[in-house]
Amino acid sequence: MTKTLQNKLKKWRESHADNYAHTLLDTPAPTTILRFVPKVGVILIMGDLGMGKSAEAHAIAETLHKAYHKPAVIHLPIIPDRFKNKVQALLPKWVKVVTDRKLWPKGGVIIIDEAAQQAHARRTQSKEAIELDNLLSIARQREQLIIFISHHSRKLDPNIVQQVTQIHWKQPTYAHQLFERDEMQDFSMRAFDFFQIVRKGRPWKQCTQAMQRTVKATTLALDMQDFRFATFKNKVASYWSENLSCIFKDISEVTKGV
Ligand SMILES: Nc1ncnc2c1ncn2[C@@H]1O[C@H](COP(=O)(O)OP(=O)(O)O)[C@@H](O)[C@H]1O
Ligand SMILES: [Mg+2]
Repeated sequence: MTKTLQNKLKKWRESHADNYAHTLLDTPAPTTILRFVPKVGVILIMGDLGMGKSAEAHAIAETLHKAYHKPAVIHLPIIPDRFKNKVQALLPKWVKVVTDRKLWPKGGVIIIDEAAQQAHARRTQSKEAIELDNLLSIARQREQLIIFISHHSRKLDPNIVQQVTQIHWKQPTYAHQLFERDEMQDFSMRAFDFFQIVRKGRPWKQCTQAMQRTVKATTLALDMQDFRFATFKNKVASYWSENLSCIFKDISEVTKGV
């Protein structure tokens, strides 16, 4: 390689390192769900238990429903009908509970909660995982926004992680960052630091209720196309209830015997 080419390569590498550092170190730009969330794509929401992941997914669905009349579905593993009905009763008409991917509506928002349970990393070769392979092209063709929710990415099918258009964080724990996939560690650490600042460095249990609510309402998000962090707040959806928050605990109980 000539000296000029070597220098060019060095500069190219440096500029990419610079870009990466900017992404990690710049202050996230404040935005809103409507401005930031794409109408079509794949989003992964991560964070600790009880930090508002499910609530955010429903807030996104409601925002897009109000703005563009988008329908939504919650995709569940195969569950008994009586349980499906119980979940459906907690939701407005425009949000349907489905157990079959063929029923995902064109132009809709698809919520896959506790996704690791449904698309586990260890089942990458399984039929379900192979079906998830072309997520992004499915989303584009059918104009869908697919939202996966998971505590962290370690247990999640790598096909999902590779295809996301955006990653959203609700407050993670330090352990999340330690056990995260390698390619995700810097970003998860950034998310950990970000939420430390939101709660002014206080341990979670010493935060006032108002502060805890602010933390739960806050999302740090990374857009994979712009490769920039942004932050926005969400209220809980108008139909949100504590029952809805708990259903996934119930579902893992119910599906044990199925
Ligand atoms: N944006 C928010 N504003 C205020 N409280 C919230 C918000 N999001 C979640 N919460 C509270 O936190 C609880 C847990 O939220 P949830 O979305 O079920 O957490 P996760 O899915 O991360 O386990 C909710 O039932 C609600 O009481
Ligand atoms: Mg949840």
